[in-house]
Amino acid sequence: MKAQIPSASASGTFLIGGDMPVHRLGYGTMRLVGDGAWGEPADPQEARRVLRRAVELGVTLIDTADAYGPEIAERLIGEALFPYPHGVVIATKGGITRQGPAKTEYVGRAGYLIQCVEMSLRRLRLERIDLYQFHRIDPHTPLEESLGALKRMQEQGKIRHIGLSEVTPAEIEEARKIVEVVTVQNRYSLADRRNEETLAYCEQQGIGFLPWYPMAGGKLLKPDQPAAQTLARIAARHSASAAQLSLAWLLQRSPVILPIPGTSKVAHLEENVAAASLKLSAEETAELEAAAGA
Ligand SMILES: NC(=O)c1ccc[n+]([C@@H]2O[C@H](COP(=O)([O-])OP(=O)(O)OC[C@H]3O[C@@H](n4cnc5c(N)ncnc54)[C@H](OP(=O)(O)O)[C@@H]3O)[C@@H](O)[C@H]2O)c1
Repeated sequence: MKAQIPSASASGTFLIGGDMPVHRLGYGTMRLVGDGAWGEPADPQEARRVLRRAVELGVTLIDTADAYGPEIAERLIGEALFPYPHGVVIATKGGITRQGPAKTEYVGRAGYLIQCVEMSLRRLRLERIDLYQFHRIDPHTPLEESLGALKRMQEQGKIRHIGLSEVTPAEIEEARKIVEVVTVQNRYSLADRRNEETLAYCEQQGIGFLPWYPMAGGKLLKPDQPAAQTLARIAARHSASAAQLSLAWLLQRSPVILPIPGTSKVAHLEENVAAASLKLSAEETAELEAAAGA
């Protein structure tokens, strides 16, 4: 697989919100910044190269958040990709504040979220954000207040579509009383299927499902994890890697799944994008699921 020029277009197209096409295999930017999503990248030049290469390879869905850095991932995207090529969707998020590496608090107050949207627009150098995802429901703020603020930003033309993150079907239904929800971003991979119910709901409703930690944050690629031997055996059959297999499994799992694998390296990005054209047989899928305990 590595000899071919990979293209994310081989993963097919999904229409977000019924009117915004993206190639299903996207790219997540959390790994571009320092550890624990805190601070500058170890290699800023490589970070910009990763972003430009993603677009060259046909990635049209780039996931980010103001909490990555904070601010740094969005700033890098603006620096590397502006002016954005036609069809590239930058999906950002707001609602998580960060106090240090891997330290977070959720804030869903209206005034704060409005500031988040305004600042993301500024850093991304956009007039409108194509997909704005509410990063976490704030347990101390009514959902009406948080989503009401995003709805106002949508009415003002500053947001095109609204998505949610880490939600149950019941929470999505609550949210849909306030805004149209076009995507959901929950933790999900071959090794972690706790959000199966939410995926089924999204599939039923035609809502895009962006699995975060699609390779279990890299753990699925380690030689000592339970499914490692099965992954290695099937990967060898396809001249592929464990990373490619775990992404191919997601793409085949449901037509609403839009994986956003993260990496800080061009070589890994190229490898991951090549998974768009990898097809697994029904037997291989069953074997992988059994090995991962899914
Ligand atoms: N909504 C939320 O709450 C939430 C939470 C977390 C993440 N996210 C989003 O989801 C995206 C994906 O999650 P993630 O990046 O945390 O985890 P992931 O995609 O499951 O795994 C990323 C890890 O795997 C490594 N990796 C990637 N490709 C590889 C390859 N081909 N070979 C070997 N190692 C490889 C990366 O290291 P290298 O850098 O060395 O490649 C990194 O350590 C994030 O980037 C972010 O956009 C959302």
